[in-house]
Amino acid sequence: MPLSPAAAVAVSFFLGMLTGGDTAVVEHTFVVSQVKMNRACRDSLVTVVNGQVPGPAIDVTEGDSVVVHVVNKSPHGLTIHWHGVKQRLNCWADGVGMITQCPIQQGSNFTYRFSVVGQEGTLWWHAHVASLRATVHGALIIRPRSGRAGTLYPFPKPHKEIPIFIGEWWEVDLVELDRRMADGSFDDNPINATINGKLGDVYNCSGALEENYVLEVEQGKTYLLRIVNAALFSEFYLKVASHKFTLVAADANYVKPYTTDIISIAPGESVDAVVVADAPPGKYYMVALGMQPPLPDTQIPVSETRGVLQYSYNPSQGKDLPIGAPVMVPEMPDLHDPITSFYFYGNLTSAFPHPRKGHVSTPSSPCGEFDENVILVATMNNVSFKIPTTEPLLEAHYHGNMSNAATLHELPDRPPIVYNFTDQAIIDFGRKVAALESTSRITTTRRFQFNTTVDIVFQSTTLLQRDSNPMHLHGHDFFVIAQGLGNYNAEMDVEKYNLVDPPPSGLFVTDNPGVWFLHCHYGFHATMGMAVAFEVENGKTLDTTLPPPPADFPRCEHPGSSLAYQ
Ligand SMILES: *[C@@H]1O[C@H](CO)[C@@H](O)[C@H](O)[C@H]1NC(C)=O
Ligand SMILES: *[C@@H]1O[C@H](CO)[C@@H](O)[C@H](O)[C@H]1NC(C)=O
Ligand SMILES: *[C@@H]1O[C@H](CO)[C@@H](O)[C@H](O)[C@H]1NC(C)=O
Ligand SMILES: *[C@@H]1O[C@H](CO)[C@@H](O)[C@H](O)[C@H]1NC(C)=O
Ligand SMILES: *[C@@H]1O[C@H](CO)[C@@H](O)[C@H](O)[C@H]1NC(C)=O
Ligand SMILES: *[C@@H]1O[C@H](CO)[C@@H](O)[C@H](O)[C@H]1NC(C)=O
Ligand SMILES: *[C@@H]1O[C@H](CO)[C@@H](O)[C@H](O)[C@H]1NC(C)=O
Ligand SMILES: *[C@@H]1O[C@H](CO)[C@@H](O)[C@H](O)[C@H]1NC(C)=O
Repeated sequence: MPLSPAAAVAVSFFLGMLTGGDTAVVEHTFVVSQVKMNRACRDSLVTVVNGQVPGPAIDVTEGDSVVVHVVNKSPHGLTIHWHGVKQRLNCWADGVGMITQCPIQQGSNFTYRFSVVGQEGTLWWHAHVASLRATVHGALIIRPRSGRAGTLYPFPKPHKEIPIFIGEWWEVDLVELDRRMADGSFDDNPINATINGKLGDVYNCSGALEENYVLEVEQGKTYLLRIVNAALFSEFYLKVASHKFTLVAADANYVKPYTTDIISIAPGESVDAVVVADAPPGKYYMVALGMQPPLPDTQIPVSETRGVLQYSYNPSQGKDLPIGAPVMVPEMPDLHDPITSFYFYGNLTSAFPHPRKGHVSTPSSPCGEFDENVILVATMNNVSFKIPTTEPLLEAHYHGNMSNAATLHELPDRPPIVYNFTDQAIIDFGRKVAALESTSRITTTRRFQFNTTVDIVFQSTTLLQRDSNPMHLHGHDFFVIAQGLGNYNAEMDVEKYNLVDPPPSGLFVTDNPGVWFLHCHYGFHATMGMAVAFEVENGKTLDTTLPPPPADFPRCEHPGSSLAYQ
């Protein structure tokens, strides 16, 4: 589709400006409760916001303020995280259980207040305590501010904009699931994948097919799909039979338009994709297929769901859709094929230049999972992150007694051993790996001075379970300056860095004081310890200093209890 470079330049200009006085306050009340829902022939109790999965979409214009009153009528303590919102000087509103705040207890409420500045596209909100985000989530849509010349989308305005949540249906209680993940006893899997909460007609429930999510389209019109992966377990391939996507944004950053017939999306990620309804009128399946690690790694049950893209009756064409006509099925890649996903990410580049400022520190952070003989844990640089249980890290940081906490540990700069990760003698699933690593579970932080440019090298160790590791850093955009297969080589790989238009996604600048969680967005990887908290010091001025917490900030009522997180 034609995309105007002139418009792109205009948006770049706009994003550099401060927002004016015409901003709104967008207010919501989120009542969190458990409701009975029936899927796959069975009722289960599901923790949801305002009775629905996905929960309500928050729809704002760039520059607006958001006020959300969270009323917790569920039996679980919880927090809500505004995934991808930069929360400048507002770490208190980041909503991460025991990292930035004590959970909002059962029967209590708390009001989150934040502004959405300098970001456009699709983000989302989700619970950030235990695995509750599998059902406690919804879209956070940020539109360009209109009314100024050239301040609309850097692509033709779509006819409609539709959130598409790829998720999972779980029957096990999600807090119990997290407990089992943390103590290594879990053997649970989702019932199957969902699109906008629906299992779809791949699921035959004693004769009655499960409902499909249906997207009605009119021929010739353009649709903006705001796609989010809210699943705990799977990275998905998404295709619509006979249609193409033009990717225009990822994680609320515009990308250079990339046209593809397949989207790869890992847990936590969001992409904006334009779809033109340019196929013959009919019904087309929209299939989400969960990827699996390569064999002989442990496999999870196949996760697949489908919705339908359905052309509406168009009287001007004089005919309705033929009754009983077949629904077109897209051809999916092999579920063990990681290369299609690798190429997908390799083709994303930022729409606007993000020139790099300098190079100060290079912590290398391999992510791996090792068998401690007793429990399986995930690590970064041979440390498995343990969630604090008494005081949230941000409060300890604010009171200047982070170093008092006995369990705190500085994340090592480098892994203790530089393995050759492509050496077949090491890539041997099973006992050999267990012999290689024992590790410690500890609360790990890494302290940075304000305004430091940080490179992170994520080296996946591929030793035990070779899934991808979608890393999520709170409070900052980070940019992928290179990706590659095999071992990272500090001397040679620097030449491959894209320092001009890296896609958003580890390069970042510590421009936001507070405590920011960095973790893998796979539910079980994070719970098993693939995480670290980055502590960013205050700058020298008031406008680079973290203000005090809100007066009504939740207190930890049951310090010491095992509070899970994600
Ligand atoms: C929130 O809690 C306060 C204090 O307990 C109470 O006065 C208020 O009514 C509650 N608000 C809602 C929306 O439940
Ligand atoms: C999910 O649905 C797909 C497609 O029908 C099926 O192949 C797979 O076995 C299902 N997974 C589970 C766990 O039932
Ligand atoms: C669903 O299952 C029933 C039996 O329980 C079978 O008769 C029916 O053909 C199945 N439908 C589809 C579309 O697979
Ligand atoms: C972009 O995708 C194509 C195939 O889809 C692939 O051949 C190419 O290598 C990818 N580019 C990058 C930089 O990964
Ligand atoms: C942190 O410092 C505050 C204020 O100095 C003090 O009240 C609190 O007990 C300290 N907490 C810990 C865990 O040391
Ligand atoms: C790693 O192992 C592979 C396979 O044995 C070998 O080809 C490669 O040269 C090794 N790389 C390094 C840096 O030692
Ligand atoms: C990893 O950490 C554990 C626990 O502190 C330690 O025993 C082990 O030697 C470390 N591994 C390496 C390779 O340094
Ligand atoms: C951050 O550092 C850069 C130089 O590296 C400087 O130009 C800029 O003013 C600094 N910003 C703040 C807010 O201190």
